[in-house]
Amino acid sequence: MTAFSTPLSRKLGLRYPIVAAPMFIISNKEMIVACAEAGILGSMPSLNARTAEALRADLEWIRARTDKPFAINMTIRLTDPARLQQDVELCEEFDVPVWLTSYGNPTEFVKRARAKGAQVFHDVTNLTHGKKAVSAGVDGIIGVAAGAGGHAGRISPYALIPYLRESLQVPILAAGCISTGRQIAASLALGAELVYMGTRFIASTECGAPEGYKKMVVDAGPEDIVYTDKVSGVHANFLAATLPDAHEAGHGPAEAKRWRDIWSAGHGVAEVHATKSIEAIVEDLVREYHDAVSGLQSLSQS
Ligand SMILES: Cc1cc2nc3c(=O)[nH]c(=O)nc-3n(C[C@H](O)[C@H](O)[C@H](O)COP(=O)(O)O)c2cc1C
Repeated sequence: MTAFSTPLSRKLGLRYPIVAAPMFIISNKEMIVACAEAGILGSMPSLNARTAEALRADLEWIRARTDKPFAINMTIRLTDPARLQQDVELCEEFDVPVWLTSYGNPTEFVKRARAKGAQVFHDVTNLTHGKKAVSAGVDGIIGVAAGAGGHAGRISPYALIPYLRESLQVPILAAGCISTGRQIAASLALGAELVYMGTRFIASTECGAPEGYKKMVVDAGPEDIVYTDKVSGVHANFLAATLPDAHEAGHGPAEAKRWRDIWSAGHGVAEVHATKSIEAIVEDLVREYHDAVSGLQSLSQS
């Protein structure tokens, strides 16, 4: 497959400018290694390892299998401070090349990552938070648009990505509703330097989601997705069929149980038609991307 790239994907040493975005509970070390082999950036939230010791074991496992780049996500305000400290130390010890920060102030992470030569990309849903993160020194901004899986924003990707790109002096990663190569081409046209895809990778063989969850993502359309703050107190997108009629909002230790039982996915389910290996998904994405680009060129010649 012919490689394609952006300045940021070349800087990171990726064959394709694609990130398999971190997903609470369900992304795992197997996905990270499969992504590395397929030429994209794999990731997982540090909390998907139940303890810091388990995270150390996962990082050892990954490091034994690949020397390609990968990313660990730290969910700042959702993580116990002592555990967060341990996770940062492990990212330093194992030279994790990319740190993905979300839900909080990334300043301290930027300082620590800088000292190790790691890149920090921070997750935002609007320009105000984007500006704060750029002031904190992050290397890239992840613009999480309306329709994304997980905690999604309210701004359409068509508006959000160029808006962030014009206003901020760092590369933009586009998150939300990207499940095909055609959508990757559109995101790069809007000014993104990497695409950040969650929902498409739920239906991957390597993903830790239960089979019923993968099947529901494959079968669902965007009409089956509900945007609500009733599950965790923060607006997120969920598969409607898994939402109880009345669910109490709130944070705390019950959060993990809720995310295990109530399945999150974004509008990008529209374009997910089968569960495949990550290698096969990336092949599809690359082929679709090249077809989209040449299709656009032939449009103006016909
Ligand atoms: C099940 C699920 C869990 C998620 N958990 C996290 C998380 O722990 N941390 C985070 O920063 N983003 C999380 N996200 C958001 C993704 O990293 C990414 O921004 C999003 O999936 C992109 O939109 P898409 O699903 O339309 O591709 C989650 C998304 C999903 C679908």
